[in-house]
Amino acid sequence: MAWEWDAAAYGRLRLPHELWGRRAIARLALTGTETVLDAGCGTGRDTAVLLEALPRGRVVAVDASAAMLDQLRARLPDSGRLTVLQSDLGDPLPVAGPVDAVLSVAALHWIADHRRVFDNLAAVLRPGGRLAVDCGGHGNIASVQAALAAVLGEAPQVWNFATPAETERRLAAAGFVDIDARLRAEPARFDDPAALHDYLEVVLGAHLARLGVDERAAFVRAVAERLPRPAVDYVRLEIHARRAA
Ligand SMILES: C[S@@+](CC[C@H](N)C(=O)[O-])C[C@H]1O[C@@H](n2cnc3c(N)ncnc32)[C@H](O)[C@@H]1O
Repeated sequence: MAWEWDAAAYGRLRLPHELWGRRAIARLALTGTETVLDAGCGTGRDTAVLLEALPRGRVVAVDASAAMLDQLRARLPDSGRLTVLQSDLGDPLPVAGPVDAVLSVAALHWIADHRRVFDNLAAVLRPGGRLAVDCGGHGNIASVQAALAAVLGEAPQVWNFATPAETERRLAAAGFVDIDARLRAEPARFDDPAALHDYLEVVLGAHLARLGVDERAAFVRAVAERLPRPAVDYVRLEIHARRAA
């Protein structure tokens, strides 16, 4: 990754990610004994939910960001049921032994090459194991992207908001079956300008990292002022699939 997250600020925000995570975890239909990989686990919000859902199971939490993993370790007590790994999902994963299922929430749209990620996840998933993903999909935050392009003077090149059709093709090529990929529009409206500002700071993190600290608030305000309404127009890509048996 070319920049580092403000993991403490991310962890403090009340984000719809929690709902997205719960939906994706429900798609895994866990029985409580499985080993689940949380791919792009961040500060460990879903890792904690997984550990609760797996009283006799284990979680392997993977993220490329040291700052995010520091927050995760502070959140979750050291237990024999959790393994934390710093690794890039675009590289082969250093996971010992196959996992029964893979969860990924709000992470894959940060990665340009989804085919490589799906190959790497398939390589550590047992035959027949489930994959449940939530990430930004085609059309995600279109009004934020337009506002950002107006401020930057060029289209932002940070995110990979894939379509269901290209995702289904990539998953099939990586050895997945029973594939379901669909978009869900889920706009978040903010009547409090401070809350919108805090939200945009997270969404625009990759751009803010290139600015001086004293320039960041003005940049976020400039983007917020160009939004047609005080809202972040999320479109989620929801994926469910199995690794071929
Ligand atoms: C928006 S956060 C989501 C974190 C968590 N899943 C959640 O829902 O709160 C995106 C996460 O993806 C991770 N990430 C982005 N690119 C990655 C990559 N190439 N390999 C591993 N993790 C990556 C980031 O470090 C970050 O923790």
